[in-house]
Amino acid sequence: MLETSTRIKIDISSSLPRNLDAVAVLIHKQTPANAFTSNLLSQPIQSAINRIITTKINTGKSDMLTMQALDSVKGEPVRLIVIGHGNPAKFSAACLRESAATLAREVNKQKFKHVALVVPALPDMLPGSPDTDSLEPAVPSALGALAEGLELGSFDFALYRGSASSNGNTGRAPANKSVTQFTLVYEKTGSTAKLAVQRGQIIGKGQNIARTVAFRPGNDINPPALAKVAQELGREVGLKVRVLDEKLMEKLGMGGIVAVGSGSHNTPPRMIVLEWPGKTGSSSKGKKAGRQPAPLLVVGKAITFDTGGISIKPAANMQRMIFDKCGGMAVLGLMYVAAQLKLPQRIVGILASAENHISQTAYRPGDILRFVNGVTAEITNTDAEGRLVLADALAWGCQTYQPSAVVDLATLTGGVVVALGKSIAGVMTMDDGLMKQMQQAADRADEKIWRLPLTEDMKGMMKSDMGADIVNSAGREAHPLQGAVFLSYFVPQATPWLHMDIAGVADTEKQTSLYVKGATGWGVRTLIQWVSNRGR
Ligand code: BES
Ligand code: MN
Ligand code: ZN
Repeated sequence: MLETSTRIKIDISSSLPRNLDAVAVLIHKQTPANAFTSNLLSQPIQSAINRIITTKINTGKSDMLTMQALDSVKGEPVRLIVIGHGNPAKFSAACLRESAATLAREVNKQKFKHVALVVPALPDMLPGSPDTDSLEPAVPSALGALAEGLELGSFDFALYRGSASSNGNTGRAPANKSVTQFTLVYEKTGSTAKLAVQRGQIIGKGQNIARTVAFRPGNDINPPALAKVAQELGREVGLKVRVLDEKLMEKLGMGGIVAVGSGSHNTPPRMIVLEWPGKTGSSSKGKKAGRQPAPLLVVGKAITFDTGGISIKPAANMQRMIFDKCGGMAVLGLMYVAAQLKLPQRIVGILASAENHISQTAYRPGDILRFVNGVTAEITNTDAEGRLVLADALAWGCQTYQPSAVVDLATLTGGVVVALGKSIAGVMTMDDGLMKQMQQAADRADEKIWRLPLTEDMKGMMKSDMGADIVNSAGREAHPLQGAVFLSYFVPQATPWLHMDIAGVADTEKQTSLYVKGATGWGVRTLIQWVSNRGR
């Protein structure tokens, strides 16, 4: 299994297990004195919790974590962990995900072996995020979010730790090889609860896989290496994987992705196609390929390093361009989850992968490229490379798979970071129905998206004066919108299509409750919600 630097098991029990390293409880802000009760916990533990509340050692503020020793009683937990989950009026699955991640990070640091988390009392219905009015059944939503949070918080990227780190890593495995057991303690342990925990853990793992690969730098991962990762993952979970190499792509007329990768001789571009046939789907023998249902197509930008090419980027922070493959990583995570959950929907995921490098053979400003659907583009800036690899992937994907809907994710523009910052992705689509579906999915997943305009009459903004159909960059105005307009030339008009610019959210420079600094794996949760909510 692809290492995600985390080894945890999660189960669910209606009573408190014995011999725990710690028992964890969640409290919200303004919990009145002595109001904490739980018939799952012994009287002394309940008193200890109430003392923490009345002394304000823990005020219940979001993600505030306090730990203390409990009196030594044989079989009883050694420590008590109290975590704040904020304002009770804003209670949502999102708070639970964050509290669980906060717990898991501490448990990983402390190297505990077995920790129980007492699930707080739940209403019947719960919102997925504090910003939405739409409610969902609380038990599966809450337990799923807790399991996701435990996985996300356990993420500890150790691949490159060496002998100078105290928790150094000797090989290509996580430094901490032991398994941590988490037990969610909750009165309902029926099949709905169990399935929710399992599903949450798989989604969390999928997001961690996306992060793990995203973190690998340009000297370690490149398009062919990424193709190998996808093939290995596909073998493990039962995905069909097909890789188009540079020669085949050239032959097929994919002038965009071939040009972007043309500066790299030893690490040429790859189009990596992963397919999940759908559980009752028809990759099973006997059925004709023509009878397969139209799939959902999800395309990700996977530039393993973006120097800007001949239109080179400034030196400051160029190292962050290892994260220019994060759209593709979200697709990889989605495909893993789809296979592990054995979703009924047929899904095709494409990672459009190249390095954007400088060399004698690199493509130049002024070059005119022809894409697989016959559209031509004048290159005005080699740093607007993401749209060029996506153009071929979208056009070829639509041609080959005739999808019922298309979504692409890309760290496409710095402009979207200026507009929306580091916690909101920009979404552009002409399809209101698809927008509504994605908004609902993002609300449930607690990943923030915001719609930016895209209309038919904007198409003119990318026209070329040099004889090509369009340019790849038309000056300084409205970069994120230019990206979407450019891509719109590569998706048939009748196909519902939505573009997500994730340049801001793909990585974080600050630790948050869910994420350490670096890649976030953003998009996996929203995509899996979107796919699951759609019929077949
Ligand atoms: N990968 C970058 C976008 C990016 C910038 C991602 C900052 C994350 C953080 C993309 O390839 C790019 O260089 N975009 C240019 C487009 C411009 C040349 C039209 C940009 O946004 O400046
Ligand atoms: Mn670029
Ligand atoms: Zn880029």
